[in-house]
Amino acid sequence: VTEPDLKGRHVVISAGGTREPLDPVRFLGNRSSGKQGYALARTAAARGARVTLIAANSALPDPAGVDVVPVGTALQLREAVLEASADADAVVMAAAVADFRPAVYAAGKIKKKDDQEPEPITLVRNPDILAEVSAERARPGQVIVGFAAETDDVLANGRAKLKRKGCDLLVVNEVGESRTFGSEENEAVVLGADGSETAVPHGPKEALAETVWGLVVERLH
Ligand code: PMT
Repeated sequence: VTEPDLKGRHVVISAGGTREPLDPVRFLGNRSSGKQGYALARTAAARGARVTLIAANSALPDPAGVDVVPVGTALQLREAVLEASADADAVVMAAAVADFRPAVYAAGKIKKKDDQEPEPITLVRNPDILAEVSAERARPGQVIVGFAAETDDVLANGRAKLKRKGCDLLVVNEVGESRTFGSEENEAVVLGADGSETAVPHGPKEALAETVWGLVVERLH
């Protein structure tokens, strides 16, 4: 039996991967399926929370009893997260957000011209949503959780990222072409701004989600 330890709380979760359009048919994207974020949403609802799930391009079915806000790009994700987190007790950023977007969106399909070298794609920076919600804390005592997708020097990069982003907890998971993305399982170390380290062994994404909520509940008062 799950404890309703999030009863009366509003939690905002981002899930999936943003897509940054180049033209009406192409985009820059990533391999996130949304499974980790959706597992966070299901487990938070089971613990009694009111849940807003900001879902970027996920093909997964809406979890029961969860308010789902579909988005496409990083800028749309930012708008939706900022709006939903105004009265949130906790914000968990599990979405894989594009750091850059194409500087120009071509209104018509980009055509290949014979005998011409391909044009380079110029990128511009997207805002860092996790750093922004961490700096603003729309509500006093709001607990902010980030994820870090790393391919090497996982823990050292995670510690540095936790500092840089200014969140309370950072879930560091290792990713690769066939690792974590799209899989039913994950393993991670959850780093706390207070210096704590919680290792979560390889297992279902729900198990990692439950550990995250346990750590969030400890920090809510
Ligand atoms: O969806 P699945 O297939 O289940 O895969 C799950 C996952 C691998 C996507 C997930 O567990 C995960 O690691 N999500 C974070 C991926 C990511 O974008 O990591 P990052 O290290 O690039 O970003 C760090 C943090 O900053 C993240 O919380 C991210 O949401 C946030 N961010 C990043 C860039 C940006 N412009 N704004 C942000 O808020």
